[in-house]
Amino acid sequence: MHVTGARPNFPKAAPVIAALAARGVEQRLVHTGQHYDDKLSRVFFTELELPEPDVNLGVGSGSHGTQTAAVLIGLEALFEREKPSLVVVYGDVNSTLAAALAAVKLGIPVAHVEAGLRSFDDTMPEEINRRLTDQICELLFVTSADAVAHLTREGVATSRVHLVGNPMIDTLLRHLSALDARALRASRPELAGRFAVATLHRPSNVDDPATAARLVEVLRGVAERLPVVIPVHPRGRAALAAAGLESPGIVVVEPLPYTTFLGLVAESAVVVTDSGGVQEETTVLGVPCLTMRPNTERPVTITHGTNRLVTPESVLSALDEVLAAPAAPRPAPEPARPPLWDGAAGERIADVIVDWLSARNP
Ligand code: UD1
Repeated sequence: MHVTGARPNFPKAAPVIAALAARGVEQRLVHTGQHYDDKLSRVFFTELELPEPDVNLGVGSGSHGTQTAAVLIGLEALFEREKPSLVVVYGDVNSTLAAALAAVKLGIPVAHVEAGLRSFDDTMPEEINRRLTDQICELLFVTSADAVAHLTREGVATSRVHLVGNPMIDTLLRHLSALDARALRASRPELAGRFAVATLHRPSNVDDPATAARLVEVLRGVAERLPVVIPVHPRGRAALAAAGLESPGIVVVEPLPYTTFLGLVAESAVVVTDSGGVQEETTVLGVPCLTMRPNTERPVTITHGTNRLVTPESVLSALDEVLAAPAAPRPAPEPARPPLWDGAAGERIADVIVDWLSARNP
């Protein structure tokens, strides 16, 4: 039984579900309803050919306690009824931790896809979700070697840890030829030539009006150099709008479908972001990425990729350097990508799960 809930879960789950289906494993898909807007959820099910969820708990938005508790209550009843052999959770959102906790308390083993990433920043809700989830999982599927080291240091038995690569990158590679931002670019004359893409949605960047205002000032600095398109997540919408985001050279759009967003990223000169997933996707697409955060749980995107960390003070000089540098090949050729980010992570995960299931229920 797979549990998904928020936008970044969907491209991670799709290749795992497809690979298990190809191996004849009986599966159920649960959507917690953490994300419920069509633009954050439904559109991804259609584009990524995810099966219709068997159950949608419809938990919706709320404080961390309220949201986590609603998922726990909903899933506990469901797991008791359905008695899955294994629960598979993805990434680091509140639904991930809640699902792992509900399952393990009922004695149901849990697999965590994208285990072991650490920012060492406990002010990030995701860091708490990651660390606690990893402590209670039976199978830990890891995207990069640094994550294996974190789990070892935290006392997780190495027999549980499987370095399999990155299933989100499976989805990206599978859709490379379908990426298409032509209609969006045609609808906005500013995007005809060279442009940047920005995404900002972390609480640390958009919840405080003063920080959001500083970031809007930075985006205006970006827009003085080249047009910048920003698909605005509902979380940052009010604060960024109040700070005057709508201004010359800044193209504000709604959250975009998968192939449109990544089409735009693939064609952009540079990306400014605070997203985790976008740091990885730009690494593979070969697009320079400036990450507006003091840390990253994905250091492989810096050591093996195109990413660098910036602050509101340093971003414009970093941008000038990027714009002056010769462009790297796009997408990044395979030797330039992190090891095992090769499109076959879902297959490896499915092989481990099938072996594990048959060892438990011969
Ligand atoms: C969540 C994840 C974050 C991930 C992000 C990707 C947690 C703790 N955070 O953050 O790791 O990067 O998803 O999008 O799980 N809202 C809507 N429509 C929706 C969902 C949310 O308008 O469909 C608005 C609501 O005002 C809500 C706010 O967004 O209160 C925050 O939603 P929530 O799911 O709590 O966290 P995200 O900021 O989306």
